[in-house]
Amino acid sequence: MTATITSIAHYLPEEVIDNHYFESFLDTSDEWIKTRTGISERRFAKDGATSDLIVPAAEECIRKRGISKDEIDCVIVATVTPDHFFPNTAAVVQHKLGLKNAWGFDISAACSGFVFALATASSFVNSGLAKKVLLCGADKMTSILNINDRNQAVLFGDGAGVCIIEKSNDDNMGVIDQILHIDGFGGQYLHMVAGGSFKPSSHETVDNLEHYIYQDGQNVFKNAVVGMADVSAEIMEKNNLKSDDVAYLVPHQANLRIISATANRMGVGMDKVMVNIDKYGNTTAATIPICLSEWNDAGKLKKGDNLVLASFGAGFTWGSVLLRWNLND
Ligand code: COA
Repeated sequence: MTATITSIAHYLPEEVIDNHYFESFLDTSDEWIKTRTGISERRFAKDGATSDLIVPAAEECIRKRGISKDEIDCVIVATVTPDHFFPNTAAVVQHKLGLKNAWGFDISAACSGFVFALATASSFVNSGLAKKVLLCGADKMTSILNINDRNQAVLFGDGAGVCIIEKSNDDNMGVIDQILHIDGFGGQYLHMVAGGSFKPSSHETVDNLEHYIYQDGQNVFKNAVVGMADVSAEIMEKNNLKSDDVAYLVPHQANLRIISATANRMGVGMDKVMVNIDKYGNTTAATIPICLSEWNDAGKLKKGDNLVLASFGAGFTWGSVLLRWNLND
């Protein structure tokens, strides 16, 4: 038995921020941002919380599947920008959507959030613990972004991707395999210092700008290149896949150079890599489901396509899922 994605949708805020916006107050340039990251623009949500990014995508996802909201029995939200510490964002989403038969929770695995949550949802469906999981990957990165720090301001954006996970009608389709990793040594390079029990919020933490992203970009970059490339190559080898067998690499969108290195290691040409970092920057837990949703909407995915999902993020967390595309239609 396998679990599969039976519907998918995404939501992006309307406000488009291009690279030139930053040139007016930061020592940066459109040219630097494009060549070092691959990003041309991103979307910033003017107001609202992460749940407000999820709700329109979730409404569309459920509508596309043609089921009643009452059939959703579990909600999982992967995010590092929850509406609140508690209740979890899954509860907020459940309430806003009126999913009266669901239970749920949040998963915190940063840029690997969607990959970890997909593996979790799939095992729930396989075990019978849930039948129809509403799986949301969403982040309002602007809520933790130091807009005055050029090392991070230009990299991130806001967005949400939502899918429904159910039993596949074909055991050879859906989530075929996964390889997942965590190593806390990476915490020193990418974290938020304050606001948790380690360093509760105070006037001092606010004055010290400790509620924003802290990132040592170079160390994250070096580890991401190795981690994402290794895990993608490993899942191919484990499943006897040659590069020709892969329809698409679906990488987390953090930096085009990390994406290219991963594709290179897999022996896959860039024409077989989903890339939209140029339009949306890094939306953390939302990058992979937004890619899948856009490629699906564009009619570029067909039943049986082998998709290698790959992620790397804070923790460090990293992993890969082999997904054989099948919307059960
Ligand atoms: N505009 C212009 N110059 C910038 C800049 C910006 N926005 N950000 C950094 N620079 C400068 C640096 O100060 C440095 O200048 P110096 O040589 O005079 O010291 C120079 O550009 C090169 O900096 P470096 O940090 O080596 O650049 P880089 O090629 O590593 O790119 C990142 C920086 C952040 C884009 C890159 O390291 C990265 O993508 N890291 C991974 C981030 C990530 O994935 N985060 C999310 C978790 S998945």
